[in-house]
Amino acid sequence: MARRKKIYEGKAKILYEGPEPGTFVQYFKDDATAFNAEKHDVIEGKGVLNNRLSEFFMVGLTAIGVPTHFIKRLNMREQLIRQVEIIPLEVVVRNVAAGSISKRLGIEEGTPMPRPIVEFYYKDDALGDPLVSEEHIIAFGWATQQDLDDMVALALRVNDFMSGVMLAVDIKLVDFKIEIGRIWEGDFMRLVVADEISPDSCRLWDMKTGQKLDKDVFRRDLGSLTDAYTEVARRLGVLPTNVTHATKPTLIN
Ligand code: TMP
Repeated sequence: MARRKKIYEGKAKILYEGPEPGTFVQYFKDDATAFNAEKHDVIEGKGVLNNRLSEFFMVGLTAIGVPTHFIKRLNMREQLIRQVEIIPLEVVVRNVAAGSISKRLGIEEGTPMPRPIVEFYYKDDALGDPLVSEEHIIAFGWATQQDLDDMVALALRVNDFMSGVMLAVDIKLVDFKIEIGRIWEGDFMRLVVADEISPDSCRLWDMKTGQKLDKDVFRRDLGSLTDAYTEVARRLGVLPTNVTHATKPTLIN
């Protein structure tokens, strides 16, 4: 069989040509990076967990009418997605101060935001994904004012959905990042949630203990990243099949 054509390889995922025009296969690697890939490790099982978790969140978003690029999961590490034109912006929503906003503005980590804050970062590894204003985005043509309004609305809907899903399993959604893509249908263009939604791209704190259950475990060397992601998956009832032993062994007479 001919090898699949690789379209793009990023830090945590690979995109391959899909089975039909307009589709891609998204492969989740075990690589973990932080600080613009200054820190790198291979964490066995991370890709499998993120594939499952991203499927879970994307399916839930679709169910409430938020459009995403997700079509279906294909296997342990791959999902079929719609080909989109990625807008070169990382859209971050913050409910509680942590990470770069705490550093930049001197706000103690854990301080609740007065309302969800939406920020845009320009996707450029060489520049370290700098924070940009709406003024920059429009002036430099990365998106239009209409796109920006739609992106903020989309990001806030994702925030409401994700916050609720996490609240139900005793986890606080501190912040998250999404990427948004354009899909063309004839002359019409729609914006959809793309890339992934996983503990790699969220901050998740246990409500009772404050324990971190996201990529900060890796960024800050706080313990086992797979244990943290497995805990999130377990609480949500999403576990990769190879580590699910849901039923006790039964004695067969
Ligand atoms: P920050 O506090 O470092 O700006 O991160 C905000 C959120 O965005 C956090 O949930 C982690 C996520 N994020 C990514 O998914 N990719 C990135 O490259 C960065 C910097 C943050």
